Amino acid sequence: MIHDSVLETVGRTPVVRLNRLTMGNGSEILVKMEGFNPAGSIKDRTALGMVTRAESDGRLKPDGTIVESTSGNMGKALAMIGAARGYRVVLVTDPKAPRSMIEFVSALGAELEIVRTPDENGGYQEPRRRRVRRLMEEIPDSFWPDQYNNPDNASTHAEITARELLDEVPEFDVLVAAVGTGGHISGLSRTLKRERPGVVTVGVDADGSAAFGYPVGHWAMRGLGIAWPPGNLSPEYVDRVHLVRDHEGMGTGRMLARSEGLLVGESAGAAVFGALHHAHLAPGARIVVVAPDAGVNYLGESFDDAWLRERGIAQRIEAAGLDTPRGLLAAARRPSRRAEPTPRPAGAARP
Ligand SMILES: Cc1ncc(COP(=O)(O)O)c(C=O)c1O
Repeated sequence: MIHDSVLETVGRTPVVRLNRLTMGNGSEILVKMEGFNPAGSIKDRTALGMVTRAESDGRLKPDGTIVESTSGNMGKALAMIGAARGYRVVLVTDPKAPRSMIEFVSALGAELEIVRTPDENGGYQEPRRRRVRRLMEEIPDSFWPDQYNNPDNASTHAEITARELLDEVPEFDVLVAAVGTGGHISGLSRTLKRERPGVVTVGVDADGSAAFGYPVGHWAMRGLGIAWPPGNLSPEYVDRVHLVRDHEGMGTGRMLARSEGLLVGESAGAAVFGALHHAHLAPGARIVVVAPDAGVNYLGESFDDAWLRERGIAQRIEAAGLDTPRGLLAAARRPSRRAEPTPRPAGAARP
């Protein structure tokens, strides 16, 4: 099949059934492999949706510049889209950004602005957003997608990703997805609540994330978890929240690679851990899990034994028995934190 642009290859990602990591109770886990997108993650869809809408309503002009704060997959996606559609792309990041991301976006011609001074808590999120605002004033015809607050993020998943999923898997019982900006869980759940109201939606978040209003703590997994409730999270469409610890998510990611041949990222590992727990609770259920990116992004971290051991995570994986398929399944039956009904902001009703 001949495509007119690399952007036509975004989406239509494969769904793969787990064969060895199964609860043996008639439940079935199907993994949607978003790492197959051309810039490597589900963010290709999000970025393409936000850029395309901004083009159509004039927020992004033909010779415009895209400016975004990112240290990961959103930057890769925007760098690819900018190159393919002819926009200058300026990505605001910080010294903690993975080298692989810097190399990837540079290869695609994006420019980097590195913010070197953190705020009083040692964080870079706010200083990065301040730099984006300043760049927006300085660069004419600049467009800031603002993935945390732009409603086109969640609606892209509500309209496009959900439609694709329902075409591929018309009937299922549970959706499990990780939460970063909240875009894909909220968008998918919004459509499911309308078209498949019986489907239970489970948001998997890092233990320590404040996305759903829990107290903020520390976590090491990348891709999920946030220190404040993001504007793109719609808790009213999410039935349950499962907070997953680093050793559970990373241990599951490593086991998916070794037992299933699925090299997926850390947030995907966490989501599959949540799905396994749900599979234990729901014999016979068909569960769809979104794997947001591929494990190749983490070869130097959670797939690196020395990196894991230096941080004490390898020891926790071993202590919890997550280093064998049997041990992982046993751990998923009794996770550190159990899935809970989603906390609702005061006054929020179920849809
Ligand atoms: C690897 C990975 N996992 C999960 C997520 C969370 O997705 P969302 O922002 O749609 O909540 C992201 C988004 O940044 C990601 O890059």
